[in-house]
Parts: sequence; structure tokens; C-alpha cells
Amino acid sequence: MSYAPPRALWASRLGFILAAAGSAVGLGNIWKFPYITGQNGGGAFVLVYLVCIAVVGLPIMMAELMIGRHTRKDAVGAFIHLEGKRSFWQAPGWISVAAAFIICSYYSVVAGWTLDYLYRALLGSFSGQSAENIEGLFGGLTADGPRQLLWHFLFMSLCLGIVIGGVQKGIERWSKILMPILLALLALLFMNGLLSPGAWEGITFLFRPDFTKLTPAAVLEAMGHAFFTLSLGMAAMITYGSYLSKQEDLLGASLRVVVLDTVIALMAGIAIFSVVFSVGMEPAAGPGLVFKTIPVVFSQLPGGFVLAILFFLLLAFAALTSNISLLEASVAYLIDERGWSRPRATWFLAGLAFVVGIPTALSYNTLAEWKVIGDRVFFDSVDMLVSNYFLPFSGLFISIYVGWFWSGTEEKQELIAGGAGWVYPTWHFLIRYVSPLAVAVVLFFKMKETGL
Ligand code: PHE
Ligand code: NA
Repeated sequence: MSYAPPRALWASRLGFILAAAGSAVGLGNIWKFPYITGQNGGGAFVLVYLVCIAVVGLPIMMAELMIGRHTRKDAVGAFIHLEGKRSFWQAPGWISVAAAFIICSYYSVVAGWTLDYLYRALLGSFSGQSAENIEGLFGGLTADGPRQLLWHFLFMSLCLGIVIGGVQKGIERWSKILMPILLALLALLFMNGLLSPGAWEGITFLFRPDFTKLTPAAVLEAMGHAFFTLSLGMAAMITYGSYLSKQEDLLGASLRVVVLDTVIALMAGIAIFSVVFSVGMEPAAGPGLVFKTIPVVFSQLPGGFVLAILFFLLLAFAALTSNISLLEASVAYLIDERGWSRPRATWFLAGLAFVVGIPTALSYNTLAEWKVIGDRVFFDSVDMLVSNYFLPFSGLFISIYVGWFWSGTEEKQELIAGGAGWVYPTWHFLIRYVSPLAVAVVLFFKMKETGL
């Protein structure tokens, strides 16, 4: 017999919101959102994205938080608790915990890149360099296995240090420190963007709708990103919901997280494109935007030395609060389902995620010839598997389960009682019909695209 301590809860509503927003606000907001918006016609894409957030993202976030809060369990345990050990519905639990763990392993490698750039920014390595030299740094970094492993190790150690402290003393405490700093950093970079000569060009690039560029592929991209950016389908929100008090207004809490995530993505877009256009550069897509264009831009701007430090600190903090939610999602599984102690579970999984991340860090150097799926290196293969299959599958199952099979009476009562009359029927309609259909369409096209 082991004595089970009462399960942890967030100490305050603000603590929950900052932790959940910390999970949501990540590389997806500051790096990915701006460049996919640029690629897909600016304003028209933003519009579609906002619709996806509202009609698919928000309802599924509410569903995940409801499942977590109702069962007070990790994502696998939640479905076992609801449907028993033999039920098919365990699948979304397993898929999402697996997704959390796998993403944790490679997100940490990318986060390591941001630490490397932060370090260079602090050394002032971007100032007085030619654009070519600065752009060359990124290739140099991805070609350098040991250097990436060092940063990956450091970043994972930070996550370990936070998650081992537990829900209140680790995650909540650090979210309350890191998120306000993140917001302040972003506000400074945003102001700087608005005051720079390229501000108007940046804003029109981001918001002027060009409906001719709005292809079906762009709509799929918007939907996929709505999922990723809100940390859905990855056990994170189920786990964070499991520490949420029953007194909390679910719609209000979810709305705050969703709005924060969206506003931060838009601010980051303006901050980035304004300065890019100020020096007359073209906004690159992919990793190049953050790791090549931005350092070049800052090397040419007055005060760029400081701006570069602020920017990479912002990225590193955003990545850190996201990755701790991924680690926590799998740690909670070992604690709740396997009865492990938190320190043991955290050491084990952070260590394992570090090891699984090694081939990711070596994907563009030592292991560059190792094509795992099709002609994809290891990094691209796991990324493809998780984003194209794991996330949409778990999102699909979760929305079907909550929309069609889960009675969840108390939780639904709470929505009925806690909000205006239209809240429950609207949510129920979206989670029952709209979300599953939308996710199924994405899944279908992703599978066609990868040909698996
Ligand atoms: N939402 C994060 C981002 O936008 C990514 C993430 C997904 C983090 C899932 C945690 C869990 O970058
Ligand atoms: Na996000």
C-alpha cells in the first residue's frame, strides 16, 4: 500500500492561465505563425486562421480541459477512468501522451538553437558582420552535432529543473515569472516595430487580404496550425486541466488562453515584419526567418545589439514554457498510472527525451544520409508523423468522444449554468459536428499529401 498524497491543483486562476498560455505560446506563435501568414496571402489567411481558432480550437480546448478536470488524471488515465481499461477510447489518450513525449524531444533541439542564438547575441556576434556571415551561422550550427547536443542538453535540464518542482512550486511558479517577462519583451519588440520605418509595410503584409493566395492548402495549414498553436491533441491541456479547480469558469479560462495566444502571434508578426521591411529585406520562410533574416536585420538597426538579445530571450522563454507542458504531460502519466514519484518520473522522461532528441540534433550532420520515411531525415520524419497523424487523430477522437459519447453531465451542467444561454448549445454543436468534420478533412489531405 502506498500513501497517495492529494492531487495537486493550481494555486490560483492566474497561475493556471499563465501556465496554459505558457504552453500555448511557443515557437508556433513567434516563428511559425508570421511566416506561414506571409506565405499564404497575409490578411486572408489570418481571417481563416481566426475562424479555425474560434470554431475548432476553442471548443476542443474546452473539451480537453473538461476531460482533465473531470477525471483528475493524466491523458491516458483520464480515458481509462471514463471508459475502462478495454475501451477503444484509450487510443486518444495514448496517442496524445506519445505525441507530447516525441515533440518534447525535438522541440528541445529547436529550443537549443534559440539558446545558441541568445548566447551569440549576448556576445554581440551579429554586430559588424556581413549579411552573408550572419546567414552562414545557421548552417554552421545545424552542421555542428555536438554544439546542438550541448544546447539540447542544457534546455532539457532547465525543463527538468522546473517540472521536478511539481505543479505549484515548479510549473506555476515559473510560469508566473517567465510569462510576464515574455509579455514585456514582446511589448518592447512590438513598440520597436511600430516605431520603425517599415511598420506600415509590415502591417499591410500581415493583414492585407489577398484572396487569390488563399488556396485549399492554405486553409488546411490554418487548421493544422490552430491545433498546434493551442497545444491541442498533445495531452498538455488535458493534464493542465486536471489541476484546475472545479470552481473555475471553463469558458472564461479557455477564452483567456486562446485570446492571449492569438494576440501574441499577431504582435510577434508585426514586430518581425516591420523591422524586416525597415532594412528592405525579403521575409524568408521556414527556419530562415528567425535564424537568418532576423539576426541580419538586427545587425543593421540602431540598438540592434539589445534587440537581438531581447528577441532570442523571448523565443527561449516561449519555448521553455511550452516544453515544460509537454514534459509534464508525460510525467503525469508515470505518476498517475504507474505510481512513480515525481522526481523519478521527471528524471527518467527528461533523460529519455534527451536521448530520443539526439538523432534529431544529428539529422543535418552525422545522420544526414539516414532517410527514415521517404526521403526525410530523422527530424523531418518524426515531425511529419506527429503533426500529420498523431495530432489530427487525437483531435478527431477527442471531439467525437466528447461530442457523441461522453455524458460528462457535471461538466456540461457547468457550461449550461455558468454562461449565457447560447454557450452550451453553441459549444455542443461545434464539438459534435464542426470540429470532427474539420479535423477529418485535414487528416484526409495530410495523409494524401504524405502518401502513407
Ligand atoms: N503551442 C506551442 C507553440 O505554439 C507548441 C506546443 C504544442 C507546446 C503542444 C506544447 C504542447 O509553439
Ligand atoms: Na502557440
